[in-house]
Amino acid sequence: MAAAEGQWVLMATGRSPTNIAVIKYWGKRDEALILPVNDSISVTLDPDHLSATTTVAVSPSFPSDRMWLNGKEISLSGGRFQSCLREIRKRARDFEDEKKGINIKREDWEKLHVHIASYNNFPTAAGLASSAAGLACFVFTLGKIMNVKEDYGELSSIARQGSGSACRSIYGGFVKWCMGKKDDGSDSIAVQLADETHWNDLVIIIAVVSSKQKETSSTSGMRDSVETSPLLQYRAQTVVPSRVLKMEEAIKNHDFESFAKLTCADSNQFHAVCLDTSPPIFYMNDTSHRYVLAVHWLGILIISLVEKWNHSEGTPQVAYTFDAGPNAVLIAQNRKTAALLLRKLLYYFPPEDKDLSSYLVGDKSILGDAGL
Ligand code: ADP
Ligand code: DP6
Ligand code: CO
Repeated sequence: MAAAEGQWVLMATGRSPTNIAVIKYWGKRDEALILPVNDSISVTLDPDHLSATTTVAVSPSFPSDRMWLNGKEISLSGGRFQSCLREIRKRARDFEDEKKGINIKREDWEKLHVHIASYNNFPTAAGLASSAAGLACFVFTLGKIMNVKEDYGELSSIARQGSGSACRSIYGGFVKWCMGKKDDGSDSIAVQLADETHWNDLVIIIAVVSSKQKETSSTSGMRDSVETSPLLQYRAQTVVPSRVLKMEEAIKNHDFESFAKLTCADSNQFHAVCLDTSPPIFYMNDTSHRYVLAVHWLGILIISLVEKWNHSEGTPQVAYTFDAGPNAVLIAQNRKTAALLLRKLLYYFPPEDKDLSSYLVGDKSILGDAGL
């Protein structure tokens, strides 16, 4: 059956988790291809709690490509969505479903339109890397429906063209995005450093202090930093290359002390670059909204709480990192430390409601470990 005929609808659903960078990507050397100024390293989260779920439908009855994000229609006309659609369509293969009588030839995919619906189960555009989960899922699910057989390296390079951080969400575990050297971006891909079982003692606690959409998107923030921050150049050329090597060693050897020191230092330097940008960007607060002042304090207080604790113990107990937003990502060495951390967080920042479990998603049994 020619693809333009018939009244069928083909659907595929995929889910991709977000990832949190421990060595940050901040700055592009090529805006269109999304090529970064430095390598970055991240940890991909468990897909149950912070992920995008995307359903793609294809039908000869669809007159155009359309997309809905969290139930609201958004435009697909942006260059990034278009790059991903084009790259996936280019690699589409023949598809046949005998039962349904669907037979799509490789070249038919160019004429068929898609309807895409995606939901994030966590705040969108609030500094928890929704673009990473969202664009990885976009590419992955389109690839699935169009019968693309490319390896994960290739898929990561397509997801990169949707949002830089998305290339790292193609893999689980610890992932490195190699900046690459080539102008066409073909060597700017993500590789898995270690899978999700490698260091599974680590516990990640994400303190969502604000789910409000940030004022400066990552894309425009890093563009301003590249244009105006002298610190960014120094960071990319001199600091990050050696930090990446040390971070790879720390991950390989389960060396939490080095891992925590590097993670905290890199988060602080990234926010220093934001402050060094003209006009300065404050991701950990937002003075234009009264109530968000508290968020600023919360961010700074969480850093100071963790720093004091780490100092009093002599060795780091917990690592913190903040992306382009006020929400704290805290990484504890093991479950025991995570339980202690939770106790401290809830002591210093008591929630209004007594039912603590209503504030937690994920493994709620940790409340028992924390004696709460
Ligand atoms: P974040 O810190 O959450 O990654 P960004 O400013 O980098 O914030 O990106 C937010 C943008 O990413 C959204 O405005 C939207 O364009 C895109 N995005 C987020 N989630 C999805 C999704 N599930 N599917 C497609 N695009 C998404
Ligand atoms: C602070 O990947 O969201 O989260 O490539 O323009 O879409 P675009 O930016 P994005 O930037 C992420 C920045 C960061 C650090 C990181 O994830 O490495
Ligand atoms: Co993003």
